Amino acid sequence: MSELNARDVGNQISDPAFHSSPGDYHALLARLRAEAPVFWVEPDEYPPFWIVSRHADIMEIERQPDVFINGPRTLLRKTAVDDQIRKVTGGRPFLLNNLTNMDGDEHRKHRKLTQMWFAPARIKVLEDELRAYARELFDRTITGQTQVDFMKAVASWYPLRVIMRIIGVPAEDQPMMLKMTQQLFGPEDPEIRTEQVDVISTVQGFFDYFRDLMEKRRADPQDDLATLLVNAEIGEQEALSYFILAATAGHDTTSSSIAGGMLALLQNPDELARLRTDMTLLPTAIDEIIRWVSPVTHFFRTPVEEYSLRGQTIREGEAMMMCYPSANRDEAVFDEPFRFDISRPPSKHLAFGYGPHVCLGQHLARMEMRIFFEELFSRIDTIELAGEPRWLATNFVGGLKSLPVRFETRDKVDA
Ligand code: HEM
Repeated sequence: MSELNARDVGNQISDPAFHSSPGDYHALLARLRAEAPVFWVEPDEYPPFWIVSRHADIMEIERQPDVFINGPRTLLRKTAVDDQIRKVTGGRPFLLNNLTNMDGDEHRKHRKLTQMWFAPARIKVLEDELRAYARELFDRTITGQTQVDFMKAVASWYPLRVIMRIIGVPAEDQPMMLKMTQQLFGPEDPEIRTEQVDVISTVQGFFDYFRDLMEKRRADPQDDLATLLVNAEIGEQEALSYFILAATAGHDTTSSSIAGGMLALLQNPDELARLRTDMTLLPTAIDEIIRWVSPVTHFFRTPVEEYSLRGQTIREGEAMMMCYPSANRDEAVFDEPFRFDISRPPSKHLAFGYGPHVCLGQHLARMEMRIFFEELFSRIDTIELAGEPRWLATNFVGGLKSLPVRFETRDKVDA
């Protein structure tokens, strides 16, 4: 086996296509955990950074938000795109100013604005509505059918509809929101990239749309996040950035978890059978699915002072990639981490991050997934793979882009 080197590992981990082969990706992460858990990389097209691959080290970073800030660099972005962004923003490193690049008091103030909306008690009120969405979706895509692309036709749509309802985006605009999110998160995938698509014009498209929605809510307030943001005491740029964060973070992550979870169950038929005979296992199954899929590959942090992590000296300002999928397969924390076990004890997985930036939508994501699988399993009798699953080429948020399945619905079996 060749030696790990800064350029090759950097190029692999930042290459979107590498992420469409989960086996190779996890093999690299396992090697990093074992041989070089805090490893400096220098990819050709991206600014250099440290890869942090062990659970304990990521926790050490997340627990010290005053030392490791979100501010200057939040995720993998090509040097050329960084330069372009600085050009259009007059030197700022971001197009958006949202929770993920805020720190300290500014972050606390902005997070507080919507925190209540995503609290368990508030989202519980939406349970019946969310269940009705799932039923309606399955009426259209499952009932009377025998085969479907589970990712494209089913899993993509449900979390989208839920988060758009919460924001206040009408049904007719939701396909456009899905396309724009995919352009933002998977812009290098050959099936999604088109000539015109680049990050800056995608963000511009979102801005135009949400500016218009804000106007509508000013004139006609509703019980939704859009109305809350219009009335919040924050600048227009921050409000628009908030919309984009909620609109994008709120569905691709959950769709990928649903589809990835379905695949894990299909590949582990004993676990699927166990779940179907005992649906009380669903809550732990959902957390195991989220650990297993870990759809968010990383966020960065940057130390404001020199810091020694596992014997490596990290200098002030050197970006650190917290590699969540790696933390979630860490042999030091999880027994047999490569075994999919729906009754794994409530785990310490880091798929939602940790600390002050921990995922705002984690309770919503879990509730959506619970309702989705309850409704799905009440309708289908058998389900199996009907073709090769394919993964999105993306180095940030992603997972399956296609999951062909064949199934028999209960109505068919009963008839
Ligand atoms: C299974 C689904 C999801 C996963 C795996 C996931 C994962 C993550 C991760 C890893 C972070 C960064 C945490 C950190 O920096 O420590 C995050 C932040 C965030 N997520 Fe999620 N997420 C999911 C669903 C959602 C949903 C449904 C929403 C709904 C709006 C959402 C909204 C957010 C927001 C607003 C942040 C930024 C929080 C902050 O910086 O303070 N996410 N999520």
